[in-house]
Amino acid sequence: MRHSKQKEDSNMPQSAVSDLARLALALPFALAPFAVSAQQDEITFHRDIEPILQRSCQNCHRVGGVGPMPLVTHEQVAPFAGLIEYKTGLRDRAGAMPPWYMEKNIGIQDYKNDPSLNDAEIEAIAAWAQSGAPKGDPAHAPEPLVFDDSVKWNAGEPDLIVKTNSVTKLAGTPDWWGEIDRVPIPLEEERYVKSVEIVEVNDVNFQAGTGRETVGGRYIFHHMIWSTAEIDESGKRVDSTVTSWPVHEVGRNPDIFDEDAGRLLRPGTYVVSDSVHLHSNGQDTTGHLEIGFRFHPVGYQPKYERTVLGLGNGVDISIAGNQSDQELHAYVALEDNIKIVTFEPHLHAPGERMCLEAIWGYTVETLSCVGYDHNWVRGYAYANHAQPLLPKGAILHIVGYMNNTGTNPNVPDPRNWQGSGNRSVTNMFIDLGMRVSLTDEQFAEEMAERRRVLNLGPNDHVIGCPLCTAPLVAPVPLVDVAASD
Ligand code: HEC
Repeated sequence: MRHSKQKEDSNMPQSAVSDLARLALALPFALAPFAVSAQQDEITFHRDIEPILQRSCQNCHRVGGVGPMPLVTHEQVAPFAGLIEYKTGLRDRAGAMPPWYMEKNIGIQDYKNDPSLNDAEIEAIAAWAQSGAPKGDPAHAPEPLVFDDSVKWNAGEPDLIVKTNSVTKLAGTPDWWGEIDRVPIPLEEERYVKSVEIVEVNDVNFQAGTGRETVGGRYIFHHMIWSTAEIDESGKRVDSTVTSWPVHEVGRNPDIFDEDAGRLLRPGTYVVSDSVHLHSNGQDTTGHLEIGFRFHPVGYQPKYERTVLGLGNGVDISIAGNQSDQELHAYVALEDNIKIVTFEPHLHAPGERMCLEAIWGYTVETLSCVGYDHNWVRGYAYANHAQPLLPKGAILHIVGYMNNTGTNPNVPDPRNWQGSGNRSVTNMFIDLGMRVSLTDEQFAEEMAERRRVLNLGPNDHVIGCPLCTAPLVAPVPLVDVAASD
């Protein structure tokens, strides 16, 4: 029940006027953050909701997309208004839509390809759903998006696509772990890779109404841990030629490496994996993975080395049954100056949230906190000007928050104690994020660049860059106090 301003005229009966007066009092609260509707108080599909769906939802929720139902026309969206209000209102918690769980009230807020909704948008959706999902005037609708289904690569068209051999997983058969056929990389010369993206191509009927409209119903590859390497005569990987690549997991977004730290793909190598996990999706399915590499130009040389840091704990995890808010902690001290490119929490079913902190001197700073939903694996890439720059000696600390109760729908039986391990019913606690190491000169350059881009003065502070505005002190010779007395 929402009145438009035009109806407010002096011929109205007294009761309607007082109704309006009350509405006028209530409305500023409901609509205050929503500037566009100031002129007209009804939130409509075409004017207010459709642009949000276009930006953050339709990529998946359209015919042929991975989402279970299209959210394009008013007829398609209106029946789901209440559910959309609920899912978007979950914000950064498991089950939220879009599947992006960065907490907005703490830590760094600038990420690449962030599809999340702001408060005003979430409130607009709620107000719209509660007022009966009005359609509004089609003249206010944005241009409909045109989806080209030949485009399946989110990070852009690859320069090289390598396909694994097809495998078949029959309905109702148990999970399978193992090695898949090695496939050669058809490459003439060494190339540095800008991004890698993996897509499963299979013969599942994706249309709604097949009764298996979950992510697990659409794919058979759960994950693939893989590398590229030359193979010697005995069939073993030649160690000096191994490049490891980010794990493929169902629902994962593409991996975009730091511009200055491209990863090397060598000619004469093979895609090698001895850790593929296949699961039945309820129908006989044949499928394969397509690995899309995007290259830097020939002649590119990386400026930075990638750092491999073990940040996590895979050994002594202990999670009690029927208990929420259980914390896990892991630390690593930095041996080099680093730049953090991505944050990627990796937990299993009871995982609910992970925070990344930097400890430097007396300062403890939260860099990022994200909710976690074990159905969706997300890596969060910091915007270039927000990538944390941490000096050697700093300590990275991750905190995992585990909810092993019935309120976590991902936990099969919350009465069970859970320990460490590889299976989904055992646990991992790792930040799989990417970082690069910087020499002292490179570190100073990066900080100078940061000061320039963000226009930082001596009293400014940026999260994740403890030395960005610190005065540079010349080395002070140590004085022997006893001798000088
Ligand atoms: C990256 C792809 C993707 C994006 C982006 C996305 N969704 Fe989804 N959505 C899915 C998938 C897959 C499911 C089913 C699995 C699940 O619930 O996690 C789903 C489930 C849902 C459901 C629950 C359907 C049900 O029957 O339970 C709603 C409602 C929904 N999405 C709305 C939205 C809205 C609104 C947006 C944008 C604000 C959005 N989604 C963005 C992929 C996506």
